[in-house]
Amino acid sequence: MRSRTNGKTEAAPSSLEGSPAGSPEGPPCDVLVVGGGVIGLVTAWRAAQRGLAVTVVDPEPGGGAAQVAAGMLAAVTELHYGEQTLLGLNLASARRYPDFAAELTEASGQDIGYRACGTLAVALDADDRAHLRDLHALQVRSGLTSEWLNGRECRRLEPMLAPGVRGGLRVDGDHQVDPRRLAAALVVACERAGVRFTRAWAQALSVVRDRATGVVLADGTALAAGQTVLAGGSLSGRLAGVPEEVTAPVRPVKGQVLRLTVPRRYAPFLSRTVRAVVRGSHVYLVPRVSGELVVGATSEELGWDTTVTAGGVYELLRDAHELVPGITELPLTETRAGLRPGSPDNAPLLGPTALAGLHLATGHHRNGILLTPVTGDVMAHALTTGELPDEAAAFTPRRFTSAHLNSSKHLTELSA
Ligand code: GLY
Repeated sequence: MRSRTNGKTEAAPSSLEGSPAGSPEGPPCDVLVVGGGVIGLVTAWRAAQRGLAVTVVDPEPGGGAAQVAAGMLAAVTELHYGEQTLLGLNLASARRYPDFAAELTEASGQDIGYRACGTLAVALDADDRAHLRDLHALQVRSGLTSEWLNGRECRRLEPMLAPGVRGGLRVDGDHQVDPRRLAAALVVACERAGVRFTRAWAQALSVVRDRATGVVLADGTALAAGQTVLAGGSLSGRLAGVPEEVTAPVRPVKGQVLRLTVPRRYAPFLSRTVRAVVRGSHVYLVPRVSGELVVGATSEELGWDTTVTAGGVYELLRDAHELVPGITELPLTETRAGLRPGSPDNAPLLGPTALAGLHLATGHHRNGILLTPVTGDVMAHALTTGELPDEAAAFTPRRFTSAHLNSSKHLTELSA
């Protein structure tokens, strides 16, 4: 993956920063979710379905990284060395997607663009081919279904591929969803389930006698809650008033993404998600039924910078063009950058923290859209029982507290 670090870390937006927390006032709800991206929304929806009174605090629910993300559900093709524990959670969420999509469509009356299209990951030169062979071996060792194809077989599946494609992996289980539709449907499903929305910025966490008791908004209004969930994506670590030892260790990882449109006369341009390693860089092309073609993504460590750069657009188009030369004929309709919430081990932080009443649902990094269904279930379980279900035990935020780091096997497992 392209990585760029220039040592420059821009100041975070002031939205989650502010004055010390005051005492909460007003009628308390059971659960206050800070952040109305897909992770906060799915947490709110699932918690409301379990009978909890839930409020989401966000000036623009349904916004955030989902407005940029491509929506690949790529548990197998995006497997990385050292992420075996995360793989289990990714697969658990991928398995949930068909039922989750059907339920959410029913609950919201909106289609979320879930498409069981499969994925083809290809290589363009000998080094890329060696890289993909290694990935295939890792997939097979991990018990995953992935078939090696030669170049001709790849082009038979996707005739728009460049003649130089050397081979690839056919992964019929890696699908896609439309993250913008997903976010919009979750907002409606939440509303219909009785979730209340406070369209404002949370300024500070309120803590009374070693317990989180809600948040104070930017205008000074205090909202009280039995439990507070920080689900603010890459900003989750910036809320004032959160004690240092339970602050979410997340950082923004910038991704630039392009959207093109396939005119009807060119359809079907691609029939499935196509991704590639092009001379060491990763690029993916996600074709939607609507004709939208999403091309992503850079991976840059530049703080809270969401500038779309000429270099980012150039690199993505250059690599996409090597892979599918016909792409340069298509209208370029949108360029945008978003921020992945990166955690120290690339895995999410889910459930109760060491501060009573405070939960985290953040740090999903490259897998926020994929992990949306399982995150909703895990968080609803944690909010109703106080415990993480077994399938998510390794993702406790407590793995990053210092006492835990000295004794825990979690990190070793995640980085082995
Ligand atoms: N999972 C795709 C990305 O993070 O760019």
